[in-house]
Amino acid sequence: MRVIEAEDYQELSNLAADYFINKIKENPEITLGLATGGTPKGTYKKMVEDHAKHGTSYRRVTTFNLDEYVGLGSDHPNSYHQFMETHLFKDIDLPSTQKHLPNGIALDINKECIEYEQAIERSGGIDVQLLGLGSNGHIGFNEPGTAFETRTHVVELAPSTRQANARFFNHADEVPQRAITMGISTIMQSKEIVLLVSGESKHHALKELLIRQSDEGFPASVLTKHPHVTIIADRSALSGIPVNG
Ligand code: PGA
Repeated sequence: MRVIEAEDYQELSNLAADYFINKIKENPEITLGLATGGTPKGTYKKMVEDHAKHGTSYRRVTTFNLDEYVGLGSDHPNSYHQFMETHLFKDIDLPSTQKHLPNGIALDINKECIEYEQAIERSGGIDVQLLGLGSNGHIGFNEPGTAFETRTHVVELAPSTRQANARFFNHADEVPQRAITMGISTIMQSKEIVLLVSGESKHHALKELLIRQSDEGFPASVLTKHPHVTIIADRSALSGIPVNG
């Protein structure tokens, strides 16, 4: 795993956005795996600015998001569909048929999981997957204890995850109990992974990731087995952890 140190959140966002923009320029038909949460917001903002200023085009790009809450339709303000519309999709030229998120209100939720996997496969697989890091080590919504072999599946969210995400809802008890998430094996099949880690609150999780043996009690530790992972972390997340360059 290569670690890139950013001065602060702003620089982390710039570096991550440039990384993705270059990938899109190299391969305009790239399939990207995208993430929601506080961390990638700045990256998306820079990508939107670049699109407006330099015209980087997403017309031939395909995207797959990591996850969606069960029970929230695509027009629900707290759905990840809406998050992506607000922070990225509405301001770039990505055709709607080429953006994919799991359907949180599918009648048959298990069938939805299988079809999501099939759609990823049909697109030729994910070229670059963007990830955030949960303070408990989750990636996507794969909570501690999730088997490394999992494909897209339904999960019960950990209390700490629901608490962390309550800031996006009016009341903590509105945070859904379940979500559909790409599995760990789905994530590991991406050709390349970019993990963003920002802020002191992620320091412990980042340290665990960098020192720990791979085990299912800490989902992100699976990344040590992937051949092409870039971690972009800011100084407050790293705070004292030596960087390998
Ligand atoms: P955050 O979430 O970007 O909102 O910190 C990351 C995650 O939980 O995966």
